Amino acid sequence: MNDLQQYFDRLQPRYYINEIASLGFTRLFRKIAVRKVKSYENKRVLDLMSGQGENLEFIKSPNENTAIVALDYSSAMHKKLAATFKKKFSVQQIQKDFFESHIPDHSMDIILCSYGTKTIEEDQKAVFADRLSRIIDEKGEIIIVEFVKPKIKWRASCVKWYIEVLVTKLFGNEFGKLFHYINKNESLEDLKNKFVQNSLSIISHQRYLDLVEILHVKRN
Ligand SMILES: C[S@@+](CC[C@H](N)C(=O)[O-])C[C@H]1O[C@@H](n2cnc3c(N)ncnc32)[C@H](O)[C@@H]1O
Repeated sequence: MNDLQQYFDRLQPRYYINEIASLGFTRLFRKIAVRKVKSYENKRVLDLMSGQGENLEFIKSPNENTAIVALDYSSAMHKKLAATFKKKFSVQQIQKDFFESHIPDHSMDIILCSYGTKTIEEDQKAVFADRLSRIIDEKGEIIIVEFVKPKIKWRASCVKWYIEVLVTKLFGNEFGKLFHYINKNESLEDLKNKFVQNSLSIISHQRYLDLVEILHVKRN
């Protein structure tokens, strides 16, 4: 088990604090991202780095053929996801590191990934985009939402102070750790370029509040 896996396992009982510490913005942008897909009817959905299944709450118009795969390497996150959503959805849970998992090519119609990409190492990003590009089927869509480093300097300083000083003081060091990952994550531009190279088309790529980006791509 690597350090990050242990970190997320330990964090799980207090993971809800992220929603409070982000003043509700984490939830808001997750909802906007998941609702980019108007209907999940008859869709095969991969919730990648699913955590406790926070995305599943926002899935619109699912039916009995909506098949969800939730992949995350944290066992604690999976337990909570199962307790919350197993009765509501047909969810297959995969507890594995994505980079060691074997999701078949062309096996998904939708891939959702919320707040999972910032901890991916730089040299793994191309591998990540390539694998997603293969997993998605014809006409399939990939939606990624992530915190990014603000471009405007004073905003970056405010975010640093807010997370490293205030959030850390109020909620503990484990939440302050987040800043390190946001600070090295300039944008989703590199993933976007890789998707374009893989012949996917960009439906939208937006930055909100100079702090969150949502990337929505499609295989034609
Ligand atoms: C910040 S949480 C996001 C959880 C959820 N998607 C959300 O919107 O709140 C990141 C999650 O990704 C998982 N994760 C990070 N890297 C992973 C990897 N390489 N393979 C599988 N899961 C990973 C962690 O265990 C954690 O649950």
